[in-house]
Amino acid sequence: MVFEQIATGGCQSYLIGCDDTCAAALIDPELSQIDHYIALASRDGVRIRYLIDTHTHADHFSATKELARQLNVPVIMHRASPAPFVDMRLADGEMVVLGKLRLQVLHTPGHTADSMCLQVGDRVFTGDTLLIGGTGRTDLPSGNPESLHDSLFNKLLKLDPALKVYPAHDYKGRSHSTLGDELASNPRLQKRERADFVEMMRTLNLTMPTHITEALRTNMSGGKTVAHLLAAATATVPFMSLGELKARVEAKEDDLIVLDVRERDAYEGGHVPGARLLPRGQLELRVNTELPDPTRRILTCCELGYISTLAAATLREMGFLHAVALDGGMKAWRESGYPLTTGRDP
Ligand SMILES: [Fe+2]
Repeated sequence: MVFEQIATGGCQSYLIGCDDTCAAALIDPELSQIDHYIALASRDGVRIRYLIDTHTHADHFSATKELARQLNVPVIMHRASPAPFVDMRLADGEMVVLGKLRLQVLHTPGHTADSMCLQVGDRVFTGDTLLIGGTGRTDLPSGNPESLHDSLFNKLLKLDPALKVYPAHDYKGRSHSTLGDELASNPRLQKRERADFVEMMRTLNLTMPTHITEALRTNMSGGKTVAHLLAAATATVPFMSLGELKARVEAKEDDLIVLDVRERDAYEGGHVPGARLLPRGQLELRVNTELPDPTRRILTCCELGYISTLAAATLREMGFLHAVALDGGMKAWRESGYPLTTGRDP
């Protein structure tokens, strides 16, 4: 079996593949690691055939939809998943055939209603149903402590205790344990009575994961994260450094239109000498009157360098093929002590 465990912070993703047929599946991929997964599959000589999320993640950005688009392969989740982009919806007791490997599905609701574990060979991918020394929380949308108790004690923990546990999270850098080890020493599993377990889960008082709103929005809908939008824009525009712009401003080269896309008050507080004001919010509507020549070289700038990247990408999409973005923003420009003009005019 080809096997790779890829950590992204505390999130764990897995690449598993069949040696004989070179077919592989990616379990719980994270959006920022797309190139890493594809490179690993290629290095290991396997082709990714399936993209699997063990459940709707509330704490990381799933890469399944984007990878499905890039690789043209199906996304697999449990049938209770709300995500509209899932191609194959599985139910308890079904299997995914991966060359000579068989991924056996156990529906294990509790952390979420759509949580599933996947057993293959000597191991089980437990998602957030069972972690090393812990369990998934049950206080996020669709979580249910009674269901988690059933899923653990009446299903997952009835499997062979020698099975290796590979969870969707580990915050302490551990790779795996076994079901037997967890039964013996996982503190949460020592509360075996349903009422005690439920009471313990209800009184954990955990803090909300960071980015929970954005993670649920994008993972449940297939929509894009802000970082993803920015990365897509960044991939389509060239950049100019702060130092290069400063040299051009000082040389008074006028082949470059510097377009400040912040709001008026920020612009008037201090802008690059010669920069024109065209706020990002008005860009598309005013571009025909403000920038009549699409062949001009235009450099966008903003406070931090993010909005200017989106603005340059929009300009290029509209036909300004020489639009570039400043690598950095006015904050860094000011901090570098570079020249500034204040007031209404360029
Ligand atoms: Fe989770």
